[in-house]
Order: sequence, then structure tokens, then C-alpha cells
Amino acid sequence: MVKTNDITLRSISKDLKRSPSDALVVGVGQGNEGPVLLDNPLSAKAAESLAASLKILGVTGAADQMVRLPGIAETGADVLVLAGVGKLGTDGLSEEALRRAAGSAVRQLAGLSSVTLALPSASLGDAGAVAEGAVLGAYSFTEFRSNKDGLKNPVGTVKIFTEFAGTKDFDRVLDRAITVGRAVNATRTLVNQPPSHLFPESFAEAARELSKGLPVKITVWDEKRLEKEGFGGILGVGKGSVRQPRLVKVEYSPAKAERKIALVGKGITFDTGGISIKPALGMGDMKSDMAGAAVVLNTVLAIAQLGLPIKATAWLCIAENMPSGAAQRPADVLTVYGGKTVEVLNTDAEGRLVMADGIVAAAEEQPDVIIDVATLTGAQLIALGNRTAGLMGDETVTAALKEASDKAGEVAWPMPLPEELRASLDSQVADIANIGERHGGMMTAAVFLREFVGKNADGELIPWAHIDIAGPSFNNGSPWGYTPKQGTGCTVRTLVTYAEGLAAGTTA
Ligand code: BES
Ligand code: MN
Ligand code: ZN
Repeated sequence: MVKTNDITLRSISKDLKRSPSDALVVGVGQGNEGPVLLDNPLSAKAAESLAASLKILGVTGAADQMVRLPGIAETGADVLVLAGVGKLGTDGLSEEALRRAAGSAVRQLAGLSSVTLALPSASLGDAGAVAEGAVLGAYSFTEFRSNKDGLKNPVGTVKIFTEFAGTKDFDRVLDRAITVGRAVNATRTLVNQPPSHLFPESFAEAARELSKGLPVKITVWDEKRLEKEGFGGILGVGKGSVRQPRLVKVEYSPAKAERKIALVGKGITFDTGGISIKPALGMGDMKSDMAGAAVVLNTVLAIAQLGLPIKATAWLCIAENMPSGAAQRPADVLTVYGGKTVEVLNTDAEGRLVMADGIVAAAEEQPDVIIDVATLTGAQLIALGNRTAGLMGDETVTAALKEASDKAGEVAWPMPLPEELRASLDSQVADIANIGERHGGMMTAAVFLREFVGKNADGELIPWAHIDIAGPSFNNGSPWGYTPKQGTGCTVRTLVTYAEGLAAGTTA
């Protein structure tokens, strides 16, 4: 299960003809006065005539635009592809514009076996972004197609044309692109799994499989151990399902590491809402309600693969939220790990219940920081739309995550945690209720989670941030850039970049 297609990356810096491929991709940008053919390895003569005919070819340079032309002999490729990179800013192209253009081209060229990307790469970072985009664009999910005849295979080999080709530095950049790209693609594949096949036990098994051969330790709590140790949140949400819940911990703990991060992920393999059942329309998208757990799992595995000198632990809080005679009811009270009681007034606000258990358990191990990732609220989509993740929590952590997301090319935005929201979560009978103020519901949910963040040895609250990825984790529209339909794998890149910053000492 959960096998993801793979891609081979190579690099070349000259002699296109001696390194033939099915297609050569060059970039076109949107300048103030029309389309601009970007830096490329074509002969001056070929480039000049191409540049002169862009307009007549209908090439605008808009992002995601792709125009195929017959190959030019000098390039050794059957097809010449003009790929749009979008608006050309005053300070040139961003890494993310290159990443998207590379990903979009590779995605749209599915069916070809080899592609050479000759996009501008003024820096090692640019060339790395092109490589990463290529891996992200070469994704497909066909596990459940019985007839694969009409399906196009994703591009198998991508050659990056860059002056950095063959250098040690660029080899390292390519390795990172493969590792991070694979982690994102593995996250997508988990999210894309149908709930018939991905349920708590099989998710835990998939985590084991993905961890194989990596220097990590995995521990799985089954329902008996969850019961014995008092994980009332995960158990309460899982009660309605015949498939028993799980808690999974994946630890990477290299010898000389000083810093230690804990990542907690929401792993609802299907969210019907439970007794507070959701409407039928769009309910199928709730197979993606385990995206947070898939993100934290693959982030820690990528950190281990990269050999970063920090400790990182992923906590996967996994349950299926179903209505049944055994399900929890609105007005039930459950006891979260560690002893706090919660009145469950709406069984559809289940993510915060499983996350409460995970956050308490994570804090017990005294990490330097806790970051939780969850498809927590529909209100996230109302507030920020379907491409922007919500960042909440302690300002030092949210600021560092904002910086990491900018660097990684993912979109996230900080939101406040207004103090007055806490009172709306007061319960008549328990320590806290699981629903409160509806307006700003994304923030209400975060204020709920904050109650479960423990203290460190100095008696101070452990620095914490919460990332709501309800919108950006699942694309139910058309593909764009390197982003396919369905699971997007968002936030893995942000968290790996954040971890790299910690390891390098550049992040507080
Ligand atoms: N999994 C949903 C949130 C969600 C909605 C994710 C849409 C992705 C797309 C979550 O468990 C949920 O149902 N939240 C409720 C909370 C409410 C009952 C306070 C919501 O947002 O409606
Ligand atoms: Mn729900
Ligand atoms: Zn949910």
C-alpha cells in the first residue's frame, strides 16, 4: 500500500544534443510590454526567431501556460516547450515562480519519459527550486485504477540544465529536492487513500512501512493501551467506529542533537461528523481529514533522511469519526490524557479532541517547541481561502514558521488568538467545552488546543504553534503549478525548512 511513483533527477550544463530527451522546456515571462523569452541554452539565432514569434504563437508567459512546438535539431529534443512563469517582477523571478513553472510543465508533460528543464537559474537556490518543482510535478495516483491503459505515466527522468550541474553543492541540492519532494508526494498518497483502505490500523501500518530503513523509532498505541493510559480524546472520537483508534509516535533522535521539536498531527481517517453528522454534499473530501498526521509523519521521516542534527518526534492522533450506537453523543464528557475533562457538545469538532491527547503527550516529553498540524476547521477556509494555511500560537514560533513558509514557497498567514474567545468555551459541567464562538471559529479551535499545552521544567508554557490546513491540504479544484488534484502535501516543506533553520541555528 501507499506506494508513490518515483522520479530520477540529473543535471547538465552543456551539449543539449549529447543528452537527448523527449522535450526541452524553456521559460517565458510576462513582462510589461508582452512576453519575454527567458535565459535559455538555445543558439542566439534560434532564440531570436523564437522570441520574435511569441506573440503570434499566443504565448503570454502566464503561469501554467504551456505551448508545445516541434523540436529544434540543435536541442536533441523532439518537442520544444514554452512554459509560462508568470509576471516578471522588478527583482526578477522568485524561487517559487520557478518551482511552480517547473512543476506545471512536468505535470502537463506526463506521458513523456524524459524532460530537460532549461529554466533560468541565477543561483543554487533557483536551480534547487526547479528540481523540487520537477519532483512535485511528476506525481500521479493510480493505485485504484484497474485499467491503466489510457493513463499517462508521470515523467520518469528530469534533467536540470544549469551552470551548477556536476558540482558537489548542486548534488546536495538535488538530494534534498528528491528527499523533500518524496516526503510531499508520500503525504499526498496517504491523503488520497480511500477511507475503505486507510483506517486507523492501516494508517499505523503505513507509518511503519514508510519508516523502514530510516533511523527512527516507531511506537503504536492500540485501543487497549490507549484505554489503560487514559487517552480519552482519541478513544472518544473513535468510539463510533468498528475500526479502533491508534496513537503513533515516530522519533528521530540523533546522538549529538541539542534541540528537540514535537510535531502533532490530526489523523481522522474519515470525518462523517459522528452523531453531529455532516451533510452529504462533499463529505467524501473528509477522507483528507488525516492530512495533518500524514504531514508530521513525512516531515520527521524527511528530517531523519536529511540527517539534520535535531531531535524530532511526530505524534499521529488517529481515529475514524463515525455515527453508530456506540458513538459518543453531544453532551458526553470525556477525560483527555493528563486528566482535563471536555464536554463534547458537537461530535463534529472531533479534531481538537484527538489533538488534545496528542499535545499533552508531546508536552510530557519536554520538547523545546510543539507544532501541531490539523485540518481543524471549515472556518479556516472562510477566513483564508483554500490555498493559505492559518498560523496561530506563540509569536516566536508563528513568526519563525511564517519565515520558513515564505522560504519554502508555501503560503501561510498568522492569525491572532483573541483572549475573549476562551470564555466562549466554558462548559456547564466540565473543564471546557469542545465548541465556542462560531465567528472566527479557526481561532476558537486554536484557543481550545492552547489549553492542553504543558509547561517545561522552568514552569513556563512550552512554545507552541498550531497550523490549520483545512483548505490548502486538499485541492478539489483543477491542478495548478506543481499542485495536483486532491492531496497537496502542503506544509511538509515549511516544516522541513523550519527544522533546517533550527539545525543551522538561524531559527530561534
Ligand atoms: N474536519 C473538519 C474541518 C474541515 C472542514 C476540514 C472542511 C476540511 C474542510 C472538522 O472536524 C470539523 O468538522 N469542524 C467543524 C467544527 C465546528 C463543529 C465547531 C467545522 O468547521 O464545521
Ligand atoms: Mn469534524
Ligand atoms: Zn475533522
